[in-house]
Amino acid sequence: MSTVPSEIFLHDLHPSAAGIRGEVLAGLAHRPKRLPSKYLYDARGSELFERICELPEYYLTRAELSLMRAHAAAIAAALGPRTLLVEYGSGSATKTPLLLERLADVVAYVPVEISRSALGASVERLSGQFPGTQMLPVWADFTQPLTLPEPVRSPRRTVIYFPGSTIGNFDTDAAVCLLSQMRREMGPDGMALVGVDLVKPEPLIEAAYNDAAGVTAEFTLNLLRRLNEELGADFDLRAFRHRARYHPERERIETHIVSRAEQEVSVDGHRFHFAAGEAMQVEISCKYSCESFARIAKRAGLRVMQVWTDPQRLFSVQCLRPAGSMHAHPQPVRAD
Ligand code: TRP
Repeated sequence: MSTVPSEIFLHDLHPSAAGIRGEVLAGLAHRPKRLPSKYLYDARGSELFERICELPEYYLTRAELSLMRAHAAAIAAALGPRTLLVEYGSGSATKTPLLLERLADVVAYVPVEISRSALGASVERLSGQFPGTQMLPVWADFTQPLTLPEPVRSPRRTVIYFPGSTIGNFDTDAAVCLLSQMRREMGPDGMALVGVDLVKPEPLIEAAYNDAAGVTAEFTLNLLRRLNEELGADFDLRAFRHRARYHPERERIETHIVSRAEQEVSVDGHRFHFAAGEAMQVEISCKYSCESFARIAKRAGLRVMQVWTDPQRLFSVQCLRPAGSMHAHPQPVRAD
């Protein structure tokens, strides 16, 4: 397991075992059953997720990286100098260097990540690559209220970076809540840079979550392995399967773990019955148009200032700021 370099202090606000247990038991008691997707990201899950990002069917990461490369200068100019760069769910932080290279005089980088191993590895790499930038890693679940560490120098603006279409993993109300939390955290002069996957033909979306090599299936079923290990559950991984289906009317893909047979599972001393074919929801991935995303941003008190997309319009990166702030006049939407 990768460690955080000793000269860097890790702010430890990670979810407790009791917290995980409570959320998992509540999810299993819910009808229909569901499991919280944030627990997909243990060390093994984070590794599998990195492999997903490289799959031929998973267009999201490639499209986002290519548009970040193509527009790095314009994005850095929109954010301005002397920023405090806060990244939610930073994972392996592969896109972050594109910003750190271009942003002028970054005050500090604050990755907030639930996977300790992913956080340690990314900070180790970035601190080598950007030795002049203060690194303030936070091991935490970013959906919970957080007190972020203070940088040594005072920033001109806080920028919240939220790439990877992670915003799509929240339903509309939860996404509005999270964007509102970001607005409060960035303050009146702050900005957010959010990666948003766009609505597109169904077969492309379904393939991205049902890869031929079965890595996504392994990733979702790894959640059961984790519960066996950490909560003493007795899920038989061969008795469950991965399923991901796109629902055009909801513009979202829903990922479930489906019981292959009628069975009972024990989790932390509690027994749960599964019917044959019974499905537990583990993840949703909402897809947006520029219009539908602008609507949820508006509900959160944010205004879309600029949008960058890749030439095929698979993915978008959107720059937001508080709607009430001075200068909050959007520029025309910019494609490619
Ligand atoms: N943010 C990613 C997405 O929605 C997460 C993800 C990719 C994911 N593939 C997955 C989550 C499969 C659960 C299952 O695209």
